[in-house]
Amino acid sequence: MDKQLLKRNECIVWYNRPQDGVIFTCLKEKKDFISLRGIQARLWTQLSKACSIGELRGLIRKNKTHMKYSHKIENIIKPLIRKGILEYHISQRDKKNPAFPQKYQKYNEFYLNLSRELNSVKNFNKNPNLNLYHKNSIHGSHRHFEKNEVTVSHVYREAHPALGGMSYGARLFRKLNSIKKINPQSTVVEVGGGTGFLTRSFLEEYKRNNHTKDLPRYACCDLSFKFLENQRDANERHHLSYCQANAECMPFKNNSLDLIIANENIADFTAAKVNKKEALDFLGGKIELSAIKDPSVRRSLYWIKFASLDINDATPEFIFNLGAVEFISRVKKILKRGGLVFITEYGIMNGYPTAVYLRGHVEYSIQFNHLIRVAKALGMRVEIHNLAEFFGFKKNIAVIDHCSLGFLYNMLKKDKIDLPFLAYTKEMLRQKIPKQVRYFNNLKFVELTQKSVCHNLNKFHVLLIFKGGET
Ligand SMILES: C[S@@+](CC[C@H](N)C(=O)[O-])C[C@H]1O[C@@H](n2cnc3c(N)ncnc32)[C@H](O)[C@@H]1O
Repeated sequence: MDKQLLKRNECIVWYNRPQDGVIFTCLKEKKDFISLRGIQARLWTQLSKACSIGELRGLIRKNKTHMKYSHKIENIIKPLIRKGILEYHISQRDKKNPAFPQKYQKYNEFYLNLSRELNSVKNFNKNPNLNLYHKNSIHGSHRHFEKNEVTVSHVYREAHPALGGMSYGARLFRKLNSIKKINPQSTVVEVGGGTGFLTRSFLEEYKRNNHTKDLPRYACCDLSFKFLENQRDANERHHLSYCQANAECMPFKNNSLDLIIANENIADFTAAKVNKKEALDFLGGKIELSAIKDPSVRRSLYWIKFASLDINDATPEFIFNLGAVEFISRVKKILKRGGLVFITEYGIMNGYPTAVYLRGHVEYSIQFNHLIRVAKALGMRVEIHNLAEFFGFKKNIAVIDHCSLGFLYNMLKKDKIDLPFLAYTKEMLRQKIPKQVRYFNNLKFVELTQKSVCHNLNKFHVLLIFKGGET
């Protein structure tokens, strides 16, 4: 999607068909140009390429003949916009048309994104409160990250060829240490550490690198008491501090921390459902914040205004990552100058968060651009990376796909083998279960960039936030 365009929030479409070349089109009959705003503009940008009206005028002046094709495109798109896209599955029509194989894919993707956004707001109030779930309903066991939600750090918790023979936690230490030196004087807080495997391998790697047993001052902060117990058990040999608290308002002293780690947990933080009209009325000065009853909506609107987030392209109701944003504002207070926060989670750069249905709870994907804008508005510097690139995952390594892992897990149960969930390569399995090679023919191994072991690594981002001063 063209970010520039979204900023201008005004567009007209040009459409590229291999056999016809570039075609310009407009939505309303007998009009050469039409300016699209808000959600229509977003739909257009997802459907095809777009440029501003000014740019378009220039292009058309150069080559008028293309305009004759406009009605064709119009006929395809117009009904979709009218029907609001939602009830109309474009791909069904496109599928039948052999001339549009590429476009079919694009249409399908944007249709899916949009319907996810709409379903997420529709079902929002039915979903359990995320904070209460983590505080009260976690039973705490490493099986949680195999049965309820599989995290990337969990399936790469052991040395892995895709990470050059390192575990996820060890690799994370190496990366962060190269950005900001971690030493015995450093103060580190890890938020939402789950079972504590990442902490353990992070600190083991620290010791190996620093040739010392003197750890940094390291605290684990989690809303779940059960997970804190797991973290303590996994790190028995280390003297760490443990703090049961909501990371959205962490109780650490201002200007006290060098490093904060939030690995795959901000999607668990509070989400809010916002009404677009109410939001626009507030932003346009028609209503005051105090007129908004729901405190989470009130706070969301505060942040939307604070960071000048453009919500014109939102659906009539949309989800906002309120907890993640408030976490960032809390981080700004408790980090020292020169401090760093590492965040990783799955999410999107444009559009709006959508629900992810997991066993026992529903969480929300992260809209990273919103977080970036908030961090910048708070005066912090940010970097955004793709997770696979940040960690240096070797993408051509093939690991077991999720169905195959489930199949193998169940087959081995019959042989009384409890197979840990890991992103196995064929070689790793050969070493782990040499006597069960008979199952191997039924297993599928896929490259890391595909959906292997539950994850599509391409959807995970790393957000680094630096609080002023030296790093
Ligand atoms: C999906 S798990 C990730 C665990 C681990 N970091 C990993 O990568 O496997 C989310 C973790 O965040 C914790 N958590 C969820 N909401 C939280 C909140 N508001 N404040 C602090 N911790 C929270 C959960 O209890 C859990 O430990």
